[in-house]
Amino acid sequence: MNEAAVRQLLRARTPGFSLPQPFYTDPAIFTLDLRAIFERQWIFAGLASEIAEPGEYLTVEVGTSPVLVLRDRDGVVRAFFNTCRHRGARICDDRHGRAKTLVCPYHRWTYRLTGALAAAPFMPEGFARERYGLKPLAVRELCGTIFVSLAADPPDFAPYAEALAPHLAPHGLEQAKVAFECDLVEEGNWKLVMENSRECYHCRTQHRELMRTFLDIYDFTAPENQAEIEHYWARLRAMGLPTHIVDGPEFRATRLPFTHGALSITMDGTPAVSRRLGSVPSNDIGSLRWVHYPSVFNHALGDYAVMVRMLPVAPQRSVVTTKFLVHRDAVEGRDYDLKRLTEVWLATNDQDKALVERNQAGVNSAGYEPGPYSPALEAGVVRFVEWYAGEMAAYLEAGAVRAAAE
Ligand code: FES
Ligand SMILES: [Fe+2]
Repeated sequence: MNEAAVRQLLRARTPGFSLPQPFYTDPAIFTLDLRAIFERQWIFAGLASEIAEPGEYLTVEVGTSPVLVLRDRDGVVRAFFNTCRHRGARICDDRHGRAKTLVCPYHRWTYRLTGALAAAPFMPEGFARERYGLKPLAVRELCGTIFVSLAADPPDFAPYAEALAPHLAPHGLEQAKVAFECDLVEEGNWKLVMENSRECYHCRTQHRELMRTFLDIYDFTAPENQAEIEHYWARLRAMGLPTHIVDGPEFRATRLPFTHGALSITMDGTPAVSRRLGSVPSNDIGSLRWVHYPSVFNHALGDYAVMVRMLPVAPQRSVVTTKFLVHRDAVEGRDYDLKRLTEVWLATNDQDKALVERNQAGVNSAGYEPGPYSPALEAGVVRFVEWYAGEMAAYLEAGAVRAAAE
């Protein structure tokens, strides 16, 4: 499928309906998704606390691009393409590690933590090492979270950072450690994963464990919900927590209560961690839920936070990484039990994986045609799909304008 055909598909689609089939199946559109979305937007890479010490690094695959994020000797967080400037080999393989220098295993070209090429054995006299440093990437930190962008001219990160900072600050993610992390490979297009995460239409019947504590209020403005939400928000404001809804094109954050009496998202609603996260004044605060397109959706509670990063692997394959964060001084076995901490979300993730794969299987059918989203229960899905369609259209438009000028 060429770009003109994709533009035509976008123009012809019906807003409020799921996307035409090729957006979930077509390899050419998948490649366009990498170019237009994942290689341009800000992508959640990990946490500052994961690379707390000089020389610590983490790796992440953004589409087809291996990326390296590290803390240099001066404590500065830097990001690079994890691709050697000699013949392009991937340099660091481990998800997380610590190094004094970065040595490409292929022919031992060696880079400093600043990205500068320090040694290139057997290259000729006068070889201009300064021309072959690692390619740097844009990187931003927000309240202990690290985002990278592969774009030479990335979108402005400030609106997201400024909007989220007041909400994130009390949760102390800078002082959090990753207590548990796992990957789940889902045989589904990345947009189906994101769509599934943006609605709770399916929660009541599919997420038995989650729904013990999760309140599925779909419509804040409905009179029957308004009173409960307002009462909850007033209680939080009295504790000093911000409660306004944060709403940007590629992000959103809200605070919502749990079911009556629950203090955490656990099987029995009691906290999973005895030590609270950050400076929140109570466990009885419900949760902050926030999303940043295209890669991450999250919950911060009184006792822990869970961050779910989703990255595309193939047209019909995505990898979902879940990180559970607790206070860095919390000790496993004393302050928390891993099973209790992770039980609800691991069950929920498995259930969502099955739903995404079921969705993909049906979308692949010759009989698939776009269907209507529920305006009340799938408003979050509509927002994501509109954002995606807008970004893709703008990208294709810019390409068409460039092509016409050439
Ligand atoms: S490809 Fe890295 S040293 Fe040759
Ligand atoms: Fe779900």
